[in-house]
Amino acid sequence: MDYKNRTKVSRILVDQAVPVNTPTTVLGTVRTVRAGKEVAFLEINDGSCMQNIQGVITHPEKYPILEKILTGASVRIKGKLVESQGKGQKFEIAVEEVELVGAADATYPLQKKRHSFEFLREIAHLRPRTNTFGALNRFRSKLSFGIHKYFQERGFYYVHTPIISASDCEGAGQLFHVTTFDLNKIPHKDGQIDFEQDFFADQTYLTVSGQLEGELLAMALGDVYTFGPTFRAENSNTSRHASEFWMIEPEMAWAELDDNMDLAEDFLKNLFKYALEDCRDEMDFFAQWVDKTARQKLEGVINSKFERIPYTEAIKILESSNEKFEFPVKWGLDMQSEHERYLTEKKFGRPVIVYDYPKEIKAFYMRTNDDGKTVRAMDVLVPGVGEIIGGSQREERLDFLVNRMNEMKIEHLDEMQWYLDIRKYGTIPHSGFGLGFERAIMYITGMANIRDVIPFPRVPRWAKF
Ligand code: 4AD
Ligand code: MG
Repeated sequence: MDYKNRTKVSRILVDQAVPVNTPTTVLGTVRTVRAGKEVAFLEINDGSCMQNIQGVITHPEKYPILEKILTGASVRIKGKLVESQGKGQKFEIAVEEVELVGAADATYPLQKKRHSFEFLREIAHLRPRTNTFGALNRFRSKLSFGIHKYFQERGFYYVHTPIISASDCEGAGQLFHVTTFDLNKIPHKDGQIDFEQDFFADQTYLTVSGQLEGELLAMALGDVYTFGPTFRAENSNTSRHASEFWMIEPEMAWAELDDNMDLAEDFLKNLFKYALEDCRDEMDFFAQWVDKTARQKLEGVINSKFERIPYTEAIKILESSNEKFEFPVKWGLDMQSEHERYLTEKKFGRPVIVYDYPKEIKAFYMRTNDDGKTVRAMDVLVPGVGEIIGGSQREERLDFLVNRMNEMKIEHLDEMQWYLDIRKYGTIPHSGFGLGFERAIMYITGMANIRDVIPFPRVPRWAKF
């Protein structure tokens, strides 16, 4: 079969690069069939863009196969490209040949009507074929490209950090184990599991972050970034947590917290600009169907300055607000989503960067401030989502870092020697952050649940498809 000799619908309807009267072959899935006595219409989507191409069949009685072509079937149509007489599309195909390639029967679940997101999660193997998930998956692809473009144009090298790791970067203990042990016969020695006998002769996990290795590479390459999957066995069933998500982690040598905040703000604004300018069809779709304010929201942010406030000040603002919070506010407490959202939605109405958090609630690698109580951490909070970025200036002073690791009772300090070594040999002030890709997509599109912005979500009790 000559499948290559076909025209993608995006060439016809988006690029408008195919002249009328060109003999054209389209391969795709039937979205709807409308068959009359005199004329029949097939709406076909081939995934290359949002729009369907319409195939117009005059004398449908000459095509008995039409009776077998139902919604969900895949077909090949051949005919001349013509300007459309009807509303809604500029071009259509005056069909001369129709071939049914793969039939679908009437049980096909995606009949033409609106389906709830909850229902679609149950059929995540088919939902990529819907308008919403088509737009979403194309958007993920384009936005990924925009992220690479942003960093590559600024001299950041894309580095690949391991997915199997022996360390818990965030120290939160939310780790998935990696092992080849027979789970029914786990070897023990002196009453403990004997990891010596495991595949890596060590206890290993799926990584929660590429940061630690990113730091090593930044010491050699200067500015680097990762963009990969990360895993957290956090048992929280919220609309913003996934057990597997994608993270973008830039790491800059020769950079302090202010430089880090500048990069985070510039990066986000550029990302929003990229979405508005280079993903127009998808943004139009989200603005029409998901969040009417999607465009204005992003434009507003691009043209505003992010608010930057120290944690201590943020706590004061929360304490003096008259909000009824479920979790009472007190200096030293980790902020809950309700607090983050109050700051960014109600108090400031735009993105907020909170920095200099109490050291007790942050990871071991963050640089201690002179006050001895806070660390050079920063979180970027945005309306609707809350924390979208977490980052910090790293502790580059060996003695401070060792003290901190002891203070936090980090086990197996000897196994972290490699991390300490970069402080021992030519240590450099450095900083970085992590942007949760799905959280970014939620914010941009207005989609309310993280399960609906990743093709096959992994959340507690759900790893289907
Ligand atoms: O704040 P986090 O835990 O920071 C780090 O992992 C650092 N090592 C990053 C760095 O400095 N290089 O995570 C960073 C971001 C969060 O702000 C959030 O957007 C996202 O990752 N994130 C999640 N997204 C979806 N589901 C989860 N369970 C997430 N946990 C964090
Ligand atoms: Mg965080």
